[in-house]
Amino acid sequence: MSGQREPVRIFSGIQPTGRKHLGNFLGGVQQFVEGQHRGDAVYCIVNMHATTIAYAPEALRERVYDTQALLIAAGVDPDKCVLFRQSDVAEHGVLCWLLSSVTAYGELGRMHQFKEKSVQQRDLVSTGLFLYPVLQAADILLYQAQEVPVGEDQRQHLELTRNLAQRFNARFGETFTVPRIRVPKTAARVMDLQDPTAKMSTSARGDAGTVHVLDDPDTIAQKVRSAMTDSGREVRLSPEKPGISNLIEIYAGIPAVDRRGRGAIRPNDLWPIQERRL
Ligand code: AMP
Ligand code: TRP
Repeated sequence: MSGQREPVRIFSGIQPTGRKHLGNFLGGVQQFVEGQHRGDAVYCIVNMHATTIAYAPEALRERVYDTQALLIAAGVDPDKCVLFRQSDVAEHGVLCWLLSSVTAYGELGRMHQFKEKSVQQRDLVSTGLFLYPVLQAADILLYQAQEVPVGEDQRQHLELTRNLAQRFNARFGETFTVPRIRVPKTAARVMDLQDPTAKMSTSARGDAGTVHVLDDPDTIAQKVRSAMTDSGREVRLSPEKPGISNLIEIYAGIPAVDRRGRGAIRPNDLWPIQERRL
């Protein structure tokens, strides 16, 4: 044995749906870029998760490429990590099925994301949507990931993944690494700029509170300027000041270089796709 430590195995996934926003970048993608320099990083565009809500096959196929382009533009480097499309590895579906036998029906019904998304589905709440967290657990456990970089909204899914790994190991013998979550220190839960009590998302009411990464700089500046703030003039981080706290978190989450649209842009800076003027 050489005595050298194995690099940490990092795994994360991103859906090829919707328009990617500041929350996705600060909570997810920024950590992907950091992870590829620190460990053995594997990142997956989870197109099978995207079939759990209504979708158009052609559009979904295209979105996979759009998402890949965005990741690469943000600094994810296929020479430094493994970047792949979920449906190209059939074992994700196979392991999802095996894990479903150690998943309690009741624990899936308690998942916040399922509860939120199922009410948004008009025609049909699919079994796929219900099984979504089991497929996510399969993604992670298949690669024996030790660390999973995600935004705070994924904590419950990660807890479930850990439970399933432990339950499977207890029943069938040591098989899976029990992974830990890694959320960023700042901006782990970016909130909507117009409603700082709701998380920033693509499906949010209207567009004004969501900064899309492909919004042009003027639109971004406009959205930030009209962000809802709180009463009083103090600028401080506090649960009583969700609006200001969100802006502080966002500001702190963005890499120091080029915060004002000035300065050298490093190769791995977050927004090489457009001038940053936040
Ligand atoms: P998705 O596009 O839903 O696959 O999410 C990609 C990544 O973005 C995941 O790690 C999420 O946890 C993260 N994420 C999504 N919304 C937010 C948000 N509002 N704040 C911080 N992270 C988020
Ligand atoms: N559910 C995650 C999200 O909505 C995406 C995802 C699927 C994922 N599989 C994963 C994240 C595995 C981390 C690890 O953001």
